[in-house]
Amino acid sequence: MQTVQEPASLRAVIRGWRAEGKTVGLVPTMGNLHAGHYSLIRHARTRADRVVASIFVNPTQFGPNEDFASYPRTLVQDQAGLAEEGCDLLFAPEASALYPLGAERAVKVHVPRLGEILDGASRPGHFDGVATIVCKLFNLVQPDLAVFGQKDYQQLRVIERMVADLGLAVKVMGAPTVRAADGLALSSRNQYLDADQRVVAAEISATLQQMRSLIVEGHRREAVEQAAMARLGRAGFEPDYAVVRRADDLEIPAPDAVLEGLVALVAARLGGTRLIDNLPFQAS
Ligand code: PAF
Repeated sequence: MQTVQEPASLRAVIRGWRAEGKTVGLVPTMGNLHAGHYSLIRHARTRADRVVASIFVNPTQFGPNEDFASYPRTLVQDQAGLAEEGCDLLFAPEASALYPLGAERAVKVHVPRLGEILDGASRPGHFDGVATIVCKLFNLVQPDLAVFGQKDYQQLRVIERMVADLGLAVKVMGAPTVRAADGLALSSRNQYLDADQRVVAAEISATLQQMRSLIVEGHRREAVEQAAMARLGRAGFEPDYAVVRRADDLEIPAPDAVLEGLVALVAARLGGTRLIDNLPFQAS
């Protein structure tokens, strides 16, 4: 597997593939790859002739007090893992290649409403940073398809909305969340947890499953959300939100619209670590 840093080198490789009539799949990442990321690579590999992964810890999607500086950077290990999974090309640019005028002066992509609620409200500017960098990567790679983890459910919806609204010619695909045996969704941030916190962290997926059961049994949404917040609090989390929303636009479901696709979403802090997870389901 080849690694390129410069957009011109990336484009040259992809131009060669295109000349041979190959389709291209993209898996954007911030590195520190785990089994969840590798499942995205496999998802892309079975759907495109060539797979490009990107590794870039994107400064514009971190808030001022977040973990941009300490975010784990493990390039050599990631390169080995990607090569083993059959990834064809790794794009690992410097910040100056993606933000030539500096991150503060960069043109921004803003996705109204979907990018402003839930994590968009708790992490102001986060989804502007995500949409902007993903748009840049789509422009550089011009992939036929791009694969993102369903674990970052709101991010996936924001990217789909951006692609639809800007008329970008890329198929956005969500791949299922990969979980540890106790249900914890795999995430690079799990490594911030100490041994005790790691045990408690599984409570998030258990809470999501309980939220789904209670809604399917016909309990009121507000009561289910309150019970979930209380359960997380008792387990030692500082919950940010525990909500049931419409699966497509993350708006509050109408009380009588039982046939809608729904999603339960949780964001909660454990010690200094903010964890998110979700569970899509049908209410009927
Ligand atoms: O999910 C991530 O790792 C990042 O948000 C992404 C999509 C690579 C954009 O930086």
